[in-house]
Amino acid sequence: MTMKALRSRQLVVLLIVQAGFWVVWMSLLTWTETRDVTGRLDSALSQSARQALMSIPKHLADLSSTETFIAPPPSPVELKRVNFQMWDLRTGRLLMRTPSSPREPFVPGFVEGFNDSTAAGGPWRAYAVSDVEGRVQIQMARAEEQIKADIVSSVLKGLGGAMVMFVCLASMMWVTVVCSFRPMQRAGEALRHRDRLDFTPLALREFPLEVHPFVNAVNDLQLRQSEALVRERQFLSDAAHELRTPLAALTTQAQQALRATDAAHRDEALVQVLAGTRRATRLAEQLLDQAQLDAHDCMLTDRVDLASLVSLEVREFDARAHAKGQHIRLEIEPTVVLANVDAVGVLIRNLIDNALRHAPAGARVEIVCHPGGEGDAVLTVRDDGPGIPDADCERVFERFYRVSGSKESGSGIGLSLVARIARMHGARLTCGKGIDGKGWCVSVAFPAVGEPFVAGALS
Ligand SMILES: Nc1ncnc2c1ncn2[C@@H]1O[C@H](COP(=O)(O)OP(=O)(O)OP(=O)(O)O)[C@@H](O)[C@H]1O
Ligand SMILES: [Mg+2]
Repeated sequence: MTMKALRSRQLVVLLIVQAGFWVVWMSLLTWTETRDVTGRLDSALSQSARQALMSIPKHLADLSSTETFIAPPPSPVELKRVNFQMWDLRTGRLLMRTPSSPREPFVPGFVEGFNDSTAAGGPWRAYAVSDVEGRVQIQMARAEEQIKADIVSSVLKGLGGAMVMFVCLASMMWVTVVCSFRPMQRAGEALRHRDRLDFTPLALREFPLEVHPFVNAVNDLQLRQSEALVRERQFLSDAAHELRTPLAALTTQAQQALRATDAAHRDEALVQVLAGTRRATRLAEQLLDQAQLDAHDCMLTDRVDLASLVSLEVREFDARAHAKGQHIRLEIEPTVVLANVDAVGVLIRNLIDNALRHAPAGARVEIVCHPGGEGDAVLTVRDDGPGIPDADCERVFERFYRVSGSKESGSGIGLSLVARIARMHGARLTCGKGIDGKGWCVSVAFPAVGEPFVAGALS
């Protein structure tokens, strides 16, 4: 979802909540206004009727005239739109009325108290009160229509205020939502205009707390990208450096072959070219394996049977061992590990290659693979060749490190790959003396399937 959509969604939700709140509030206001207006009107009606009763002259009902007195209209402040009638109860004659009152009684039955009645074609809210002797009755009334109009007008007043507040609150919400997304927009702009190799982390303090996990994730991604870039550059410079030597040697040997005056010298030079080509090919393969490990964060998702993998890889070396008169002995049991099958293949190949390459003709090589005591899996490759001096044991796992005086050619990458793959699998790497206290031995102990991953240690 885009930032705009997120912002609009927040705004819409907030506005809906606010509108809901105002609807409830307005309903309550209407209800209380209706109750208050009716209550206020009733008390005004009863009070005015009683006051009118007390203030009329006692002899008014005794007047023989049949004429009805018309009272002046009540002052707008006191009895606004209240209608008044005074009846002679003995004769049923209308003695006095306000100009807006009909000639028929508001309360036709002359029942005292509050009444909802119909007179002159309309509904009225009326109050009737008689004097103690029962001679006259005052009826005060207000048209229902007028009461409703009063309620509507006071609700509308409240609604006007509510609308102003609604608009104010909605504007404040909009400003708040827009402001709270501004740091994200700024960060997006900054990242967009950055140099493509600028991996400077985003400053957490510039962001609200809520987006810190996101900023941390972006920073983490940038860090991994910069590390990958450094690795890539390192690899390129190493590869260029390492390839230069065998290629220079190849050139020299090829030139010698060209300059050779007789077939024997030319053949000798060509054999050298062939050996140089093999070395360069081996180096290219090793560099390729390393590049593949660098390029991907290998996922340990394969359930690999080490025994099957070992016997598969060993077959590749059979011819070479045979040619050198070397003997490979396999001692394998089915042993499952959680691993990356390609990476473990590289590890096995390098260990077998080292044993065969660095041990002399007729040497023995043993490959043992079995489950360890604690559900782990142990792979051991040992030989009875020249071995490695104790002082070099740690360093041979560094990239491009080769034991001085080593007779065999090599690039010094193999064991660094082995160490790296072991670390990647949380496997423990140990090395020591080989067969019968001679030669060299490397053991890789893979953690048991399902065991929590622990970064492998080199010991
Ligand atoms: N089994 C072994 N016996 C004796 N020396 C060994 C053995 N394995 C490794 N070494 C020594 O350790 C060094 C580093 O080994 P590594 O596999 O890293 O490189 P390499 O074999 O020289 O070249 P490559 O990268 O082609 O494998 C070797 O040059 C060799 O001197
Ligand atoms: Mg090697």
